[in-house]
Amino acid sequence: MFRCPLRIGFIYTGWMELLKHLKKTYVLLFITALFLCLVLTLKMPSTYKSNPKPSGPPSACSMRISEQTITPLNNTKHLLVSAYMDQRVKDFDIRIIGIFRRDSIQPLHCFFCCAGYLSETTPATILQHPDNFGFPFVTTDVMCQIPQNCSATHVTLLTTPDKQSPSNHPWLPIRNKDTVGQKEENMQFDFTICISNLFGDYNNVLQFAQTLEMYKLLGVNRVVIYNTSCGPELDRLLQSYSDEGFVEMVPWPIDKHLNPSRGWLHSEHGGDVHYFGQLTTLNECIYRSMERSRYVLLNDIDEILMPYQHKDLMSLMNTLRNQHPNTGVFLIENHTYPKKLFNQSKSGPLPQWNGVPGFDIMVHIYREEPNRNIYHPHKLIVQPRAVQQTSVHDVLKMSGAKFKVPPDVCRIIHSPISTPTNPPLDQLHVDTRLWDFKDKLLPNVIKVLQRAELLRSETQN
Ligand SMILES: *[C@@H]1O[C@H](CO)[C@@H](O)[C@H](O)[C@H]1NC(C)=O
Ligand SMILES: *[C@@H]1O[C@H](CO)[C@@H](O)[C@H](O)[C@H]1NC(C)=O
Ligand SMILES: *[C@@H]1O[C@H](CO)[C@@H](O)[C@H](O)[C@H]1NC(C)=O
Ligand SMILES: *[C@@H]1O[C@H](CO)[C@@H](O)[C@H](O)[C@H]1NC(C)=O
Ligand SMILES: *[C@@H]1O[C@H](CO)[C@@H](O)[C@H](O)[C@H]1NC(C)=O
Repeated sequence: MFRCPLRIGFIYTGWMELLKHLKKTYVLLFITALFLCLVLTLKMPSTYKSNPKPSGPPSACSMRISEQTITPLNNTKHLLVSAYMDQRVKDFDIRIIGIFRRDSIQPLHCFFCCAGYLSETTPATILQHPDNFGFPFVTTDVMCQIPQNCSATHVTLLTTPDKQSPSNHPWLPIRNKDTVGQKEENMQFDFTICISNLFGDYNNVLQFAQTLEMYKLLGVNRVVIYNTSCGPELDRLLQSYSDEGFVEMVPWPIDKHLNPSRGWLHSEHGGDVHYFGQLTTLNECIYRSMERSRYVLLNDIDEILMPYQHKDLMSLMNTLRNQHPNTGVFLIENHTYPKKLFNQSKSGPLPQWNGVPGFDIMVHIYREEPNRNIYHPHKLIVQPRAVQQTSVHDVLKMSGAKFKVPPDVCRIIHSPISTPTNPPLDQLHVDTRLWDFKDKLLPNVIKVLQRAELLRSETQN
């Protein structure tokens, strides 16, 4: 909490006498300072409040619990991200998600902190994900079995099977311990969107605000964003969404540990790991959501998974689930909406967003017809508990069936910043589906930009 240093002014008992002897200007200054102090004290955001640590029972490994999202594993080249209870695979209890160096995989041993004592070690099973796109580091699951009678709270990995001093190792808390037997209807959220990897000085504020407000109108409850870095105005917008609770910012300092690639193919783009570790964050987000969200959408911020026959995602999913009851993964077709060909005369009265960085998604109304003769990528709506491993455009390991959703039911409105192709107009379709939400969307966008103090008053027409 912010402490006002001028409070001692009140303690000085002879202050009235003192004031009398001071010149008017000093009195004014003093009063102004007091006023400022008061305002500051009242306005200090809640982030300054001390965060009480969750206090569980005292545990044998409390000395070095990792508070980081990326934790280097001692004596190896690997990075650990998080540990989740996962008993869907026979003989295993725990899945540790990590980023492993492919050319230096060695045997590992799971070491547990049980309530009150340290366990014996159990052998770990290392499962590299099949998608590595040629990069030296790959998303890797380490599967562990909890020893008998151990009520495990934390886990770490050792390079030798011998029990060791707990203080030398980074302990990961074990999450999702309540997933077993949990009913889908009781979950906190219906829809979570996982936005993997914000990086560079990305500052497309208008696109972010419009897209996040669009997600809200479609029924999304939580947007998880893995943040390596971003531009100053976008930072302000996201802080504001994060205070509100709609956005969950996960720090993702991958550049402190590796040389992350900005591309998806090692032979073309170089670097240590695919696209700032996108494959790892997508998997992490699915596990993070498993206990609390009925559905998870894996898409980028320049994409909106848009129902064309339903008013929102829940009515869409209710229909799809009725038609395809055993389906855990729904594939949604990508459709690009290039910006260049926007026709002003068709736009109607869209507001001018003077001074707000970024572009207006509402002007992307021309849809490219995809060439279905070549590979055509999808994005995913999944039930997290049906998925074990995922990639960007498809899941790698799952239970249940997959269904390709027809594009007239749901498709992606994809408004990229730059569009490589410039197809002739007769190959484009006018699609103003976004405008159906305009009357609700635009006031909400104005509100959120005002809240983050990103909108100049003269632009609110
Ligand atoms: C686990 O606990 C049960 C009951 O207290 C005991 O009989 C058993 O020997 C224990 N097993 C191990 C491996 O400690
Ligand atoms: C593991 O790494 C941490 C942090 O770098 C260090 O403090 C600790 O002593 C290391 N432990 C071992 C066993 O090397
Ligand atoms: C994103 O990460 C950068 C770098 O750590 C940080 O400066 C910024 O405040 C973060 N933004 C949010 C909204 O968390
Ligand atoms: C723009 O819209 C107007 C009126 O609807 C139409 O006459 C014109 O052909 C359109 N131009 C393009 C490039 O779509
Ligand atoms: C999406 O589809 C368009 C064609 O509609 C294609 O040109 C583009 O490369 C695709 N984008 C991605 C990221 O798959």
